[in-house]
Amino acid sequence: MKKRIVSAVALGLIVAGCSQMAPPPAALNDGELAFPDGYKSWPVFLSAVQREDAKQIRDIYMNGEAARGSSSSGFPQGSVLVMENWAVKLDADGKPMKGADGKLVKDKLAAVFVMGKNPGWGAQVPAEQKNGNWIYTAFKGNGELNGDAKYNTCRGCHTPLKDKDFVFRYDEHFAMKK
Ligand code: HEC
Repeated sequence: MKKRIVSAVALGLIVAGCSQMAPPPAALNDGELAFPDGYKSWPVFLSAVQREDAKQIRDIYMNGEAARGSSSSGFPQGSVLVMENWAVKLDADGKPMKGADGKLVKDKLAAVFVMGKNPGWGAQVPAEQKNGNWIYTAFKGNGELNGDAKYNTCRGCHTPLKDKDFVFRYDEHFAMKK
């Protein structure tokens, strides 16, 4: 009888212990982030970035964790940034057209780029390409994983931005937040 009570108490402790511990995020690498369903209702990081040179418009969103970032401390663990790359309408000469507002005009969604960070992520990345523990994943405009993405190219552009938590539009974003 006594034994049974003890084991019931022990079981209760184990269950209580588990419910207090959130499971740690799985250790992911480039190309392994899930498509961020529902990101269009996330806070806006920057919208309608005009990239005439690349013939694109870019809309950037962030999850709730990233929204807690600051220009002095960067983005907390658990942050996710999502960038929509929109192709723009071109004229007969293949040059980007402008609307009445002087801005580029969206055509099709060409790609969705995602970067996310968590402790232990990107463990397989060579030291010289490490961007803290940010990892990258590229999706096509239809939401399918882009199996041809070369993640060393993402890193090639973002790695030099050490002072900005490896985020390009860092200053612009925090200036807008003020
Ligand atoms: C040629 C350089 C270059 C490459 C390659 C590149 N990026 Fe970027 N990335 C940028 C620039 C510049 C911006 C800022 C937005 C803009 O000006 O278009 C940016 C912005 C982003 C953002 C929004 C946050 C920020 O940094 O402002 C995400 C997310 C992102 N890139 C993911 C990726 C992923 C994923 C890849 C690889 C599949 C990638 N990038 C490859 C240059 C690059």
